Amino acid sequence: MARASSKTTVNTKKVSKELLRRIKKTLKNVYAPYSGISVSAALYCANGNIYTGCNVENSSYSLTMCAERVALFKAVSEGEKDFLLLLLHSPDIDSILPCGACLQVYSEHSPNIIIATVSTKDEFRFYPIKTLLTQPFRLKK
Ligand code: THU
Repeated sequence: MARASSKTTVNTKKVSKELLRRIKKTLKNVYAPYSGISVSAALYCANGNIYTGCNVENSSYSLTMCAERVALFKAVSEGEKDFLLLLLHSPDIDSILPCGACLQVYSEHSPNIIIATVSTKDEFRFYPIKTLLTQPFRLKK
């Protein structure tokens, strides 16, 4: 079990198995002709819905979008607001963790989410997002 907010715990064992199945399936959709690096993500919402994402590169390199943000933007655009766990996987970078840009974006929508990564040997690691990005940028008005 992992605590995703003051009120919510995630049955990580049960959820991770389903997320693992979904990220492996999503790997097939990666578009990474430039880096050759595949990344897949699965986002688990408090209502049980799951949104997947893969990295989508572009010949204008900086327009590339990370797998994590693809999953989050899909979910937010469908009206989701409460996120418990993000699972990440790359067959090319073992136990991959999100880049700083993705951590910033997730911190805004989900400051208590658990970030999980699964190695090429199917070993899971779990990190509260606050341990990966301790001081996210906030607009102070
Ligand atoms: N990538 C992700 O999808 N997520 C990350 O957290 C880091 C990097 C992708 C972007 C690019 O397509 C490839 O990995 C190499 O940077």
